[in-house]
Amino acid sequence: MPDIRLLSAADARGMLSDLCDVLADCVNGGASVGFMQPYGSADALPYWQGVADSVESGATLLLVAVIEGRAVGTVQVGAAQMPNQPHRGDLKKLLVHRSARGKGLARHLMEAAEREAARIGKTLLVLDTATGSDAEAIYPRLGWQRVGVVPDYAMWPGGGFCDTTIFYKRIAG
Ligand SMILES: CC(C)(COP(=O)(O)OP(=O)(O)OC[C@H]1O[C@@H](n2cnc3c(N)ncnc32)[C@H](O)[C@@H]1OP(=O)(O)O)[C@@H](O)C(=O)NCCC(=O)NCCS
Repeated sequence: MPDIRLLSAADARGMLSDLCDVLADCVNGGASVGFMQPYGSADALPYWQGVADSVESGATLLLVAVIEGRAVGTVQVGAAQMPNQPHRGDLKKLLVHRSARGKGLARHLMEAAEREAARIGKTLLVLDTATGSDAEAIYPRLGWQRVGVVPDYAMWPGGGFCDTTIFYKRIAG
């Protein structure tokens, strides 16, 4: 069973280096997760500092998977929604370092994210992911429902448009 942790803002600030490495590795591995190549660990720092601030304000739940003292996987739930949708959370940035894939970390991170989202009152989660990516194949295995595809929604990190598939999952009754 991997060590899955829900981070405080202080925890997150103490793990910035690991989080930057994970994000940079995923972008360099071709994942369409918001950033373009070339993308080094240092480029990821402002992003993760912003996430830590968002954890501090309560707008984001941030989880990590730790192996041998190092965060090698992560996922977020965006929790701050408009007043008419307090029950919804946005599942974001499921990222596992290439060196740690295929060991069930994503599954454990997603299960923990769902538990934490339910704990703060969320009953519906939504996510989008690049159509044709490894991640797209995983979500149905974890009980997510595919809604449909938005063409040319984003770009691959090396350039060129990529479609995006939207998923949702009800997580509590
Ligand atoms: C998607 C990603 C998070 C998966 O991480 P992982 O830790 O290797 O995944 P797991 O080992 O937990 O696998 C979870 C399930 O998906 C399956 N799976 C894993 N990789 C797969 C692949 N490439 N194709 C199909 N299924 C796959 C596993 O068999 C497992 O299913 P099971 O539990 O029913 O046996 C990882 O590949 C990654 O970080 N990709 C780049 C970033 C990205 O695209 N993130 C998504 C942003 S929305």
